[in-house]
Amino acid sequence: MSTAADPPDSDYVVIGNPVAHSLSPLIHARFAAQTGERLCYGRLLAEPDGFEAAAAGFFAAGGLGANVTVPFKEAAAAWVQERSPAAARAGAVNTIVRGAEGFRGLNTDGEGLVLDLRRLLGDSTAGLRVLVLGAGGAVRGILEPLLGLDPERLTLSNRTLARAEVLAADFAEAAPAGVLQVAALDVLAGPFDLIINGTSAGLSGEVPGLDRRLARGAFCYDLVYGAATPFCRWAQAAGASGHADGVGMLVEQAALAFEAWRGKRPDSGAVLAELHSARGAEAG
Ligand code: ATR
Repeated sequence: MSTAADPPDSDYVVIGNPVAHSLSPLIHARFAAQTGERLCYGRLLAEPDGFEAAAAGFFAAGGLGANVTVPFKEAAAAWVQERSPAAARAGAVNTIVRGAEGFRGLNTDGEGLVLDLRRLLGDSTAGLRVLVLGAGGAVRGILEPLLGLDPERLTLSNRTLARAEVLAADFAEAAPAGVLQVAALDVLAGPFDLIINGTSAGLSGEVPGLDRRLARGAFCYDLVYGAATPFCRWAQAAGASGHADGVGMLVEQAALAFEAWRGKRPDSGAVLAELHSARGAEAG
């Protein structure tokens, strides 16, 4: 590993647990090839309580930047010396930039989601009636950028309603009066234009307990990525106007991280197209 600030041997990793199946190394390799940057990007598995040791060791050995994934985004926010406004609001960091003054933490997840939504929905992203399911760290990271889309209303719902209420109170100042609302899953009143699944229910093959009629005519987006997530399958069966998993958000957050590290904005659309066509080949 080199300590040089420039190519050819700069080093970047994604730190997580698990991390073996992360697509980030492939995405950043493509970005490097596109932009002519020479960088080496790998995976770093940290012990469940070992984020600080893993990050400190990596940077002490000359690492230049890191992405952070589940379950360490909150730990990373505490570890860095400085946080971007988005990272401070989210209480979570997914990108660490090594600077002259120390380590700066960014959160590019929410902005990545918004970029993907703009690609999927075109110009019609203002004035939406949005339903966000979940109240954990993943949702905390996307709320402010979503509010930036200027929705007509943004309703938060969660299996444990009290968590959604806490989240809404934390973001009340970021929303115009009346826009941010909280409702229990079983009393939700549509219609919604966009339903975002920010729960981890899909990891155990489940979907949040939601009346399927709410999905009819709505675009359904799963923050989790995978060829056919339980939520995407549910949305399709429920008559959603369209559905997408979080692979586009993954590529966009990576592009923003790459730009923060290397000062060059890669072509995320080309990499997303490649990932989609690889999926098509697998399915075929
Ligand atoms: P993350 O950092 O991924 O957001 P988290 O903070 O553990 O993880 O939050 C997980 C979210 O998924 C929570 O909103 C959780 O609901 P509760 O607050 O009621 O626990 C939600 N969740 C997990 N499994 C779920 C399931 N089977 N059905 C509905 N919601 C579920």
